[in-house]
Amino acid sequence: MDQGNGNESGAHHYDVVVIGGGPGGYASALYGASAGLRIALVERDKVGGTCLHRGCIPAKELLESAAVYRTVNHAKEFGILAEPPAVDWGVTVDRKQRVVDQMFTGLSSLLKSRKVDVFDGWGTLGPNHQVQVSGADGRSTIISGDAVILAPGSLPRTIPGFEPDGRVVFTSDEFLELRSIPATAVVIGGGAIGCEFASTLADMGTQVTILEALPKILPGCDADVTGIVERSFKKKGITIRTGVAVTGHQPRPEGGTTVSFGDGEQIAVDAVVVSVGRRPATAGVIAAGVNVGIDERGFIVADPTCRTAEPGVWAVGDAIATPQLAHVGYAEGMVAIKDILGESPIGIDYSRVPWAIYCQPEVAFAGYSESAAIEAGYEVVTSKHRYLGNGRAVILGQTDGMVKVIAEKTADGRAGRILGVHMVGPWVTEQLGQGYLAVNWEATVDEVAAFIQPHPSLSELFGETMLAMTGRSLH
Ligand code: NAI
Repeated sequence: MDQGNGNESGAHHYDVVVIGGGPGGYASALYGASAGLRIALVERDKVGGTCLHRGCIPAKELLESAAVYRTVNHAKEFGILAEPPAVDWGVTVDRKQRVVDQMFTGLSSLLKSRKVDVFDGWGTLGPNHQVQVSGADGRSTIISGDAVILAPGSLPRTIPGFEPDGRVVFTSDEFLELRSIPATAVVIGGGAIGCEFASTLADMGTQVTILEALPKILPGCDADVTGIVERSFKKKGITIRTGVAVTGHQPRPEGGTTVSFGDGEQIAVDAVVVSVGRRPATAGVIAAGVNVGIDERGFIVADPTCRTAEPGVWAVGDAIATPQLAHVGYAEGMVAIKDILGESPIGIDYSRVPWAIYCQPEVAFAGYSESAAIEAGYEVVTSKHRYLGNGRAVILGQTDGMVKVIAEKTADGRAGRILGVHMVGPWVTEQLGQGYLAVNWEATVDEVAAFIQPHPSLSELFGETMLAMTGRSLH
């Protein structure tokens, strides 16, 4: 967008100015524009944000490359004779980039077709809903809106002594740009990002060690799910060390580095991936004197309809203290726009959003885990069914995994309202849909068990798990 000549107060006035063009910001812009609002979107880099350029999309593309490698590696079992696979990481990374570029072009066109004005530059919210856009060329423009939505996103957290250098120590940002695959790697932090990277690397032949500070990896997941991921990871050759703190690393003259952790233990590796969470990227986004409200961890404080303490200013996405998921950002963008339109939206129930972790085996869940439900005071009935007996999973040769349902115990001791659906196994990120609906519709086990699942399909396992909870079962 043309930035005009010098500072122009009031030259561009919009219904809504959005700062940040990641999922939270572009969803606000697209949804607002589809409701007839005039929208300006300020983006300092490229629209699409972390999700499209340094997160969900490129990481999942690499995971898909790992899946192709696995398929070719096991082709012989299916009677398909292929050369043993080898990795050409340069080609892999180029393909990832083509996917990103295609999605970026699509998003840019969509914003244009919705007549969203995209301003290139750094946006800073000043008083009276004015936003200064500072371009890379040194020019600045003032735009203003009846409403402003802050969606500045997040940045990878680092650990002192493990500052990313793009050669040996990486966060997800640098790692996704790597042109060759390391022979050995330590992944610090066994959360969603850590497990996705560990899985990709191990499938591609890297010897991976996960160092996790807490007693288990994937701390937010149901313990039974984590147990299956841990066993599958061990089968891939991933070493998992939990309850350990890293203390430092010493680069080696021959390349790579030696990581110290725990009680004086050391491991020499080619690469270190730091995946210990993400912090809000609010620095420079809010001018002094504008009191949107920032909490002690740096997140913008937002109420259930994403309003901040500053009248007429909303905040969405990773910069507010809600699950840092692109689809949660989308949902928050829509809530903010509905609120701006005066439609009195209902806030998001964050305890029941869908989670999807794309390591292999995949993890997907919505609602309470067994321990969280008990902690919240529920008496529960649970049921677990393994993919081992599922025809489609046996055909695929991917039987590691299960569906677990957590339901509220009724007065007569039966399984009642569904509180949580937790899945681990093949394509569960694509199967969670009906579990998500069941939990959020507050359906009962009897209601859901009455529905028919297609045969043979992976989703039969969800139906079988529900059916078993009625007290009768088929398989
Ligand atoms: P995370 O918060 O999910 O996990 C970080 C892990 O690092 C935790 O298990 C924590 O205990 C551990 N940790 C922290 N400090 C440590 C230390 N010094 N030494 C060892 N372990 C340490 O953060 P992650 O994986 O970096 O992801 C960031 C955000 O992005 C999360 O909110 C995550 O949910 C989201 N995300 C979601 C994805 C998905 O749903 N597929 C994919 C990627 C990210």
